[in-house]
Amino acid sequence: MSTPHTHDRFAPSEEFSAHAIAGPELYEEAAADRLGFWADQARELVSWSTPFTSVLDWSNPPFARWFHDGELNVAYNCLDRHVAAGRGERIALHWEGEPGDSRSISYAELTEEVCRTANLLTALGVGQGDRVAIYLPMIPEAIVSMLAVARIGAVHSVVFGGFSADSLRSRIDDAGAKLVITADGGWRKGKVTPLKPAVDQALAARGGAGPQETVEHVLVVNRGDNVIDWVPGRDLWWHDEVPVMDAEHHPAGFPAENPLFILYTSGTTGKPKGILHTSGGYLTQAAFTHRTVFDLHPEQDVYWCTADIGWITGHSYVVYGPLANGATQVIYEGTPESPAPGRWWDIIEKYRVTTFYTAPTAVRSFMKQGREIPLARDLSSLRLLGSVGEPINPEAWRWFREIVGAGTTPIVDTWWQTETGAIMVSALPGVTTLKPGSAQTPIPGIDIDIVDEAGAPLPNGQSGLLVVTEPWPSMLRGIWNDPERFVETYWARFGDRYVAGDGARRDEDGDVWLLGRVDDVMNVSGHRLSTAEIESALVAHEFTAEAAVIGADDETTGQAVVAFVIIKSSQLEHAHQVADVAAVLRRHVGEQIGAIARPRDIYVVEELPKTRSGKIMRRLLRDVAEGREVGDTTSLADTAVMQTISSRLRH
Ligand code: PRX
Repeated sequence: MSTPHTHDRFAPSEEFSAHAIAGPELYEEAAADRLGFWADQARELVSWSTPFTSVLDWSNPPFARWFHDGELNVAYNCLDRHVAAGRGERIALHWEGEPGDSRSISYAELTEEVCRTANLLTALGVGQGDRVAIYLPMIPEAIVSMLAVARIGAVHSVVFGGFSADSLRSRIDDAGAKLVITADGGWRKGKVTPLKPAVDQALAARGGAGPQETVEHVLVVNRGDNVIDWVPGRDLWWHDEVPVMDAEHHPAGFPAENPLFILYTSGTTGKPKGILHTSGGYLTQAAFTHRTVFDLHPEQDVYWCTADIGWITGHSYVVYGPLANGATQVIYEGTPESPAPGRWWDIIEKYRVTTFYTAPTAVRSFMKQGREIPLARDLSSLRLLGSVGEPINPEAWRWFREIVGAGTTPIVDTWWQTETGAIMVSALPGVTTLKPGSAQTPIPGIDIDIVDEAGAPLPNGQSGLLVVTEPWPSMLRGIWNDPERFVETYWARFGDRYVAGDGARRDEDGDVWLLGRVDDVMNVSGHRLSTAEIESALVAHEFTAEAAVIGADDETTGQAVVAFVIIKSSQLEHAHQVADVAAVLRRHVGEQIGAIARPRDIYVVEELPKTRSGKIMRRLLRDVAEGREVGDTTSLADTAVMQTISSRLRH
C-alpha cells in the first residue's frame, strides 16, 4: 500500500493533554533504563503473589524469560483484585447480542462466573498446562471461559468461530486439547450460525492415521437454540454444569512464564503457527499499552474494541488489557449491518462509548455506506479512536476523525501482531502530534529499526524491513510444538533481531509508515491469511492440478484473495459439467479453512507464470489481477504465458 505524503498534523488539544494518563516523561524514563521501566510497569499494573527479582533473562536468545521468578494469577489480576478494592459493582461488560438482547455484568458477577467455571474445569480434570480449545461466538461465556482457563493455569487456544471444522480439527490436534468449549450456535447477520456441528465434525472418527483423540469433553453454551447432535458422556451443557459449581475459587499463583495461550496465525507455509504467549510479561505489556495508548480513565470511560476474541486483538484488548485495568467495556455479538447499517453507532450511542478501537476495513465500508448513517446518531461521547490490523489510508483516517470523532478525537494507529502480543508502535494520544496514515512512534520501552536486506539500518526516507531490536515483555515465547520454526521464521535472518515480516520506512521526522507484508502473508479486512494455506486448500480439491494465490489491492478490504488455478486434464470433462467451477472451488476453500479465506476471484488458467527454477511469479499475477500492465516477464521460462492469462481475464 502506498504512503502518500501528507502535511496534515493534529496536535492533541490542551485539554486532552492536561488529563492524559501518559505524558512525554514515559519516553525519557524508558530510554534511561529500559528494563527498570518495564519492571516499574509490571509492579504498578500487575499484582504478584510472589514478587519477581529478575526482570529479563535473555541468556538463551531468542527464548526470553520476563519476570521469571515472580508468580501471579492472571485471572485474579483481571477480576478479584478489582472486587477486593471495592470496585465490584463496576460494570466489566456491557454485552449486546445481535438480536437485541443484552446483559451488563459487574466485576463481582464476572468474578463469580469465572470461579464457578474454574471449579468445573478442575472437576473435569483440566489442570495446569492442559490445553482447552474455545470455539465460541462473542458472548460473555467466551470471556468467562478464557479467564477460567487462565485461572487454573491451563492454556487456552481460541479458534475464531468463522473457521471451518477442518481448521478447528488441526488446531485441536496440534495443541492436544483436552476440552472444547463451544456453543450450539451464535447470531450473525440476522440468523443463527451453528457452531457445534463443526466441533462434532472435527472430533469425528479420524480413521486410524490421525493423532490419538485427546478431547475428553465438549462444554456447550446454549446460545442459538438450534438443533444439535449430542454425544452422551462427552457433551455437557454449560447451563447444567456451571451454575451448580461453588462460586469460591482460590486463585493459585503460577510462574510468570506459565503458558497463558496459544493462538494460531497464518504464516508463509500451509500450516498455521501456534503462537505461544505466557503470563507475566504479556499481561504487563497488554495492561500498559491499553492504559496509555487508550488513555484509560477506568472510572469514566466506556471502551469498545470491535475485535472478535478469535484474534489477538480480542485477547489483548478485549480480555486481558481492559480487564486487568478494571475498564468498563462493550462487547457485541454480531455484524455491523444487523439488522441495518448503523448498528455500531447505535451501540456507541446506547452505552455512551468514549473509546472506540476498530479496523480500517470497517471504516472504509462505513465511508461507502455514507456519512448520513453515523451523523444521524449522537456520537458525542467519543473522545478517542483507535485503528488496528492494516495501514489506515489517510482518507479513511480523516473520515473517521471528522465524521465519527466530530473532528476532535485523536486517532491512535496501532501497529502490532499476534506474535508481538501487544501494541508496539503507536501514538500516545496526549503526547503525539498525529499524522494520518502513520503509526508513528514505538511505544516507551520498545526498540525497533528499519533495515535493508543485509540488516543494515536505513536512514529516514528509505524503505526496508521492520525489525524489533530488543526483547519485549509480551513477545511470543515460541511456536507450539515447533521451536525450530520459531527461530527460523523470526530470528535466523539477522541473528539477534526479530523480523516482523512488514515493510516500513521512517519519514523525515522519524515517524514510522507501514508498507504491508514483505512475505506471502495477505491482509484481508485486517485478517491474516497465507497464500500457501489457500493454495494447498485449492489443490486438495479433485479438480485442481495447480494453484497460485495472491493478495490483490481492494478498496474496502485492503487486499482481496485472488486465485489462479489449473484444472487437471483428467478432470476437465467433469469440471466442465459443473456449472461454475470457480463457485465450487470457493465453497471448497470455505470448507477447508473458513469463509474469510474464500477467494474473491478464481481464474481458471492453462498455465502459471514460472521462473526457470519453477517459482511462481506472483508479482505478474498481481499485475493482472489489479488491472495493470504486466511487468517484466523476462525471467519467465515461457514468456508467452502471461499473454494467455491476461487475454483470458479480459473476457
Ligand atoms: O502487516 C501487519 C498488519 O497486520 C499484521 C499482523 O496481523 P495479526 O497477527 O493478525 O495481528 C493483527 C492485529 C494486531 C502485521 O504484520 N498490521 C497490524 N496493525 C497494523 C498493520 N499494518 C499497518 N498498520 C497497522 N496499524
